[in-house]
Amino acid sequence: MPQPLPIQFQAVDLEALAAAKGRIAVLADPDQPPSLGFKRLDRLTKGAIARAVGSEAFGKLKPGEAMDLAWPAGLAAEAVQILRLPKKADQTQARKAGAAVGRSHGAGGSLLLAEGHARAADIAFGLAMRAYDFDTHKTGEKTARGPVMVMVTNPEAVGRAAAPMAAVAEGVFFTRDLVNEPANVLTTDDFAARLAAMQELGLEVEILEEAQLAKLGMGALLGVGQGSESPSKVVVMQWQGGETGEAPFALVGKGVVFDTGGISIKPAAGMEEMTMDMGGAGVVAGVMRALALRKAKANVVGLVGLVENMPDGRAQRPGDVVKSMKGDTIEVINTDAEGRLVLADVLWYAQDRFKPTGMINLATLTGAIIVALGHENTGVFSNNDDLCNAFLAAAKAEGEGAWRMPMGDAYDAKLKSRIADMMNVGGRDGGAITAAQFLQRFVKPDMPWCHLDIAGTALLKSDSMLAPKGATGWGVMALDRLIRDRFER
Ligand code: BES
Ligand code: MN
Ligand code: ZN
Repeated sequence: MPQPLPIQFQAVDLEALAAAKGRIAVLADPDQPPSLGFKRLDRLTKGAIARAVGSEAFGKLKPGEAMDLAWPAGLAAEAVQILRLPKKADQTQARKAGAAVGRSHGAGGSLLLAEGHARAADIAFGLAMRAYDFDTHKTGEKTARGPVMVMVTNPEAVGRAAAPMAAVAEGVFFTRDLVNEPANVLTTDDFAARLAAMQELGLEVEILEEAQLAKLGMGALLGVGQGSESPSKVVVMQWQGGETGEAPFALVGKGVVFDTGGISIKPAAGMEEMTMDMGGAGVVAGVMRALALRKAKANVVGLVGLVENMPDGRAQRPGDVVKSMKGDTIEVINTDAEGRLVLADVLWYAQDRFKPTGMINLATLTGAIIVALGHENTGVFSNNDDLCNAFLAAAKAEGEGAWRMPMGDAYDAKLKSRIADMMNVGGRDGGAITAAQFLQRFVKPDMPWCHLDIAGTALLKSDSMLAPKGATGWGVMALDRLIRDRFER
């Protein structure tokens, strides 16, 4: 499993620069006097660094962007990367500059001169986040990764600020690995085992098997998995870092390890992407890992419903009626609208057992949310302005796109069934919203709740600022911050 690069913080050592191997990165703000590290590199290269910063091309760089000087004379290094970063850079610019270093980090290692920059820890976080590569299934030569050394004027203080960020980066990597993993490897059993392994970090992990789920009455969830050879499961992860006995906050995730659509089978083109249909569960797992690693002072419970949606002789049929744990019956019009069936039971179980103070669920729930928002924003649905605004603020602060969508009775009415309490689909129009309305039927009236539809943001076809193409880990940073800002003092 790819781990984030270990990053060492060390006092600035100008004498070490000439002989440093690998890549050197240095900050430059053309409106400020150059740093000591910059001046030393410039002297060693006989003025090449200052000339580069004076160039037209450097002048056109945006904050956080970088320019490479390859094989510089006067240095043992492979390259000097000059990062354009204002002295008063914001968090995003600092992470972006770090990401430029992380993207080009290789076998020779990287030495980053962050010196006295106030955002040194954010730069290191960006570096760690971007230096991700899912190469588990590549045989032959793997991209080797050298060490990362960050030189700062105050290594203790920067190291202290960077420690919780490293925990979040590891949580994000955990999510990305789960989302990138193919479905023949990440079966429901394998997924549950990876979550159980987090007990080592101090999380309490329970795996509920099919017999227990049947006893609990989770007919909606079990119906989805009944055509699969892999057993359906619910995994409960508890982190109790807050006051004993204090009700937890709940995170709930859709964990469909593969979504063929079931008997309402999906077209072949693009179906391979449905290995990411456990993205909601992946984010819940990544957040729980980050909370445990940084020993968060809050009580949080993460619950995931793990199933596989397959067509089979035993598979659920369109027209079947299933009974949810809540007791409501559902006419399954389309077996491809399976995520909501899984969440209905896990949401109900979370409230029934834990009486949480609030609840956020995540799911790669609908193609319709991609039509509405593209890949830039997760769709946010909520019954509670306070929780919703707090989440939107956390997402904004972490640079993760999130946009609130409307809900209402008229949408809900589209779920009316002739023979059962509701149907599992409400037609094509407003499909992401009717899906949210379906979920809300399984949320108790006074329970503060948000539903995050991450179908468009969990996996990208092109590189983003902090991730190479593939799984992004969208939401781990925002949820970690929400918990920090709302529950930890
Ligand atoms: N897992 C899909 C949604 C999805 C689509 C996620 C594209 C990521 C990328 C979900 O289970 C699904 O199939 N939804 C259907 C619902 C429809 C049958 C009402 C959809 O969006 O087409
Ligand atoms: Mn589906
Ligand atoms: Zn699905």
